[in-house]
Amino acid sequence: MRILITGANGLLGSKLAATALSRGFEVFSGYILDSPMVGKPIPMDITDEASVRRAFKQSRPDAVFHCAAMTDVDKCEEDQEAAIKVNSEGTRTISRQAALSSSYIAYISTDYVFDGAKGNYIESDPTNPVNAYGRSKLLGEEVVRSSGADFLIARSSVIYGAQPAMGKVNFALWLLESLRARKPVTLLTDQCVSPTLNTSLAGMLLESFEKHLTGTYHMAGATRVSRYEFGSALAGTFGLDQSLIRAATALDFQGRWKAARPPDSSLDVSKATSILQTKPLALNDALKELREEIDG
Ligand SMILES: NC(=O)c1ccc[n+]([C@@H]2O[C@H](COP(=O)([O-])OP(=O)(O)OC[C@H]3O[C@@H](n4cnc5c(N)ncnc54)[C@H](OP(=O)(O)O)[C@@H]3O)[C@@H](O)[C@H]2O)c1
Repeated sequence: MRILITGANGLLGSKLAATALSRGFEVFSGYILDSPMVGKPIPMDITDEASVRRAFKQSRPDAVFHCAAMTDVDKCEEDQEAAIKVNSEGTRTISRQAALSSSYIAYISTDYVFDGAKGNYIESDPTNPVNAYGRSKLLGEEVVRSSGADFLIARSSVIYGAQPAMGKVNFALWLLESLRARKPVTLLTDQCVSPTLNTSLAGMLLESFEKHLTGTYHMAGATRVSRYEFGSALAGTFGLDQSLIRAATALDFQGRWKAARPPDSSLDVSKATSILQTKPLALNDALKELREEIDG
């Protein structure tokens, strides 16, 4: 099976490429500037329709895993036009090509399509994003749904993993580096999410394609936690000093953020759990796996 990954240098895309390759898929790794180390590199800017057409022609994918996005929530708020161009219009271009090539498309969406007033969201709960990133990703969902391609929309939440992607550390690695250097960190107690290990998400996405799962699914970690609780659990798993973690509330962070954040965007993963063999992981299991990936 041939798969095309957009954003193959990113936190999720790079793990997906490595996992797919190890399972025998022929992997085409889309990039803009730096040629990815894993898979067959294929230049593609998702905002440039001609380059997307060329990438599809060259790779002839059975499935496209659309991971490319403008993911910096505050940058999306500052430049809302760019967020729409990449996250919504770029997704329209990719999904249209997927439909034309009869390729399955898996679009990675986000818990930020919800306003966070309720938490533990199921797939059919009403969406109501509170920031530009969420709005641009939600529009992405809508264009995928109406593209005519066989689609999976996989909503995830706070993705983390064992490796920096293009030199960028993720939330878990930043915490680990800080705690190992004995630097105090301040984490929110009143913002809840469903942190997701990239390895686990990559496995769920590949299985979804193998099963030809279509529709919308919440594919995230199985445990709802605040960032503070995540930090404490991570410190516990890695044997680090939990007293370095200080508690704060979203009010303390006001003024530092350009974009509003949903207070509780955690996702109910029962639907994915009931169908997939690769189950969403409970936080302690995911952190143990992270430790194994990092420490061997
Ligand atoms: N990270 C999270 O916590 C999280 C949570 C929920 C959902 N998601 C979704 O999951 C997906 C993967 O996230 P991630 O954390 O792996 O993202 P990431 O590490 O920021 O990677 C995004 C990738 O997209 C590429 N990209 C940006 N603009 C592009 C364009 N115009 N054409 C082609 N490629 C472009 C980037 O390339 P450059 O590096 O070269 O710019 C980068 O490789 C995204 O769709 C995101 O919205 C992420």
